[in-house]
Amino acid sequence: MRIIEPPLLHDHVRDIPGRQQSRNVDAVIRYHEETKHHFHRNARSLGYLDWANQPNPFRLYDGLTPVKLPFATKDPHAFYMDLYERTRNQFRHFSIENLSLFLELSLSISAWKSMPGSTWALRINPSSGNLHPTESYVILLQQSDTDPGVFHYSPLLHALERRTQFPQKLCEYLRGHFHTDGFLFSLTSIFWREAWKYGERAFRYCNHDVGHAIASASFAANLLGWKMTYLSDVSDEDIARILGFHRTQWVQCEEEHPEILCYVHPSEVKDIPTNLPSELVSRISQLRFQGQPNRLSDDHVDWEIISEVAKATLKPGLSSQGKPLPDRPFYDGEQSRLEAPQIIRQRRSAVALDGVTNISKSQFLTMLDKTLPRDQCAPFDFKLGPVRVHLLLFVHRVRGVDPGLYMFLRDEADFERLRAACRSEFVWKRPDEKVPLYLLWEGPLMRDAAAVSCQQEIAGDGAFSLGMIADFRRSIEDAPFLYRHLYWETGMVGQVLYLEAEAHGVRATGIGCFFDDPVHHTMGLKDDQFQSLYHFTVGGPVEDERLQTWPPYSHLKEDERARVQQMKFDEP
Ligand SMILES: Cc1cc2nc3c(=O)[nH]c(=O)nc-3n(C[C@H](O)[C@H](O)[C@H](O)COP(=O)(O)O)c2cc1C
Repeated sequence: MRIIEPPLLHDHVRDIPGRQQSRNVDAVIRYHEETKHHFHRNARSLGYLDWANQPNPFRLYDGLTPVKLPFATKDPHAFYMDLYERTRNQFRHFSIENLSLFLELSLSISAWKSMPGSTWALRINPSSGNLHPTESYVILLQQSDTDPGVFHYSPLLHALERRTQFPQKLCEYLRGHFHTDGFLFSLTSIFWREAWKYGERAFRYCNHDVGHAIASASFAANLLGWKMTYLSDVSDEDIARILGFHRTQWVQCEEEHPEILCYVHPSEVKDIPTNLPSELVSRISQLRFQGQPNRLSDDHVDWEIISEVAKATLKPGLSSQGKPLPDRPFYDGEQSRLEAPQIIRQRRSAVALDGVTNISKSQFLTMLDKTLPRDQCAPFDFKLGPVRVHLLLFVHRVRGVDPGLYMFLRDEADFERLRAACRSEFVWKRPDEKVPLYLLWEGPLMRDAAAVSCQQEIAGDGAFSLGMIADFRRSIEDAPFLYRHLYWETGMVGQVLYLEAEAHGVRATGIGCFFDDPVHHTMGLKDDQFQSLYHFTVGGPVEDERLQTWPPYSHLKEDERARVQQMKFDEP
């Protein structure tokens, strides 16, 4: 096969005519405005839960025989800092056992929970409403226990479902293109799973979840001595072709939408190409893809505005990766004694916080510091692009830090723009020279934090809560697909906070339900230059004693399919 790499790869999509670009910008802004929650009116949804059509959270492909993955007998021996740093994690070969461990530590089931009348699975990665719209695929390029090809990962069975097999020559070309061993890894979204519960706001939540899954996979890869490089030059259309979506008969409204494609390779290998030659994409897309996606619901509601924003935010080929990441030292604060795999496996969302637990200043700053991107450190060296998200903190119970409103700048280059956009009475005083944290306003904010987070008490009952403030208008006007990237970035920051909370003996919860403009009003924002896209809270958890817990794969020990088919996957 001759690989032709045209100098203007994907030129047809890169050169989107100005008018189309401006229509896409308008569609994104319209979606964003229409899906804001207001004190007096929530974003449109059914307003009730149609239990009869609750989507199955587990995709399976009918007609394919799952390739079962071996469960890990032992986790990698890695400390808390090894989640982030890449220096001590030893490289493990791309064997089926290690691929299994990668998936187990990133996207598998972490526990079953039940109370009378319902049973549900939790996963290593969190999801808004536990609905899990994110699906994942691995594309294996070399023979191990199974032939190479495109595989769907089933967290339910901890198994791979092969959709197509790659001829040997194709594998050789792909490996040759990347100059090193590894495999391709992809994430997709099923919008319907979230839309079933959340209506039009669902597109936002799907993208948060993608961000969480990227970070989750990035941490797991790091513990195996692997790194994920984002193939930012590959268009969504090409990802769909590589995954065989053009040859898949989807149930209407249950289509999977391509999100990311990346190459997973040894950590120490740099300069991985971020493209895929179009001839390779075309060769893959011509293969025979097998399997019929299972039906997730009998009936659906088609939220038109989600299709519109999905279309307006389709990613073309070729995108900029931004400036190189800084090589900054970590804040020298409190370390966790927990091992990295344990932190990953015990991650849970708190359903309620106790309103008394406090954390030290050192713990607080250590947690925030981990959200800063660093060269050669997971998860932000995935290189989504420049930092576009900062943290607006409501500090409630941090010893040595006055309660109040703070801004944590993940890139200080935005200092002047943010200061100019916010209330003029904010003081912008740094409590610690070593971290980019600024006091804006001093005073108790527990009630305000809960009020803007859809009146959810968890936002006021923790040590701190926060809103993630995105560089909004400029990003969307630059490229409408960045709307999705902004959410991914917030999800990645959220995943760091989830793990940091566990590492420091407290617990976190993502908060997708918040009143958008009241948060902006708190900051004094007068336009949509910056927007809050995601909230988070961290504090001492209150356990729900009514719940029973089972180990993650206890369901496979019995007659798996029969039992699984009888389960009702609902969370009360
Ligand atoms: C994007 C996102 C938004 C969320 N929003 C809320 C929320 O508004 N309120 C809440 O109590 N939990 C929220 N959660 C927590 C989920 O309900 C939780 O992740 C899910 O039930 C799975 O539980 P787990 O995190 O323990 O695995 C959110 C989680 C994510 C990822």
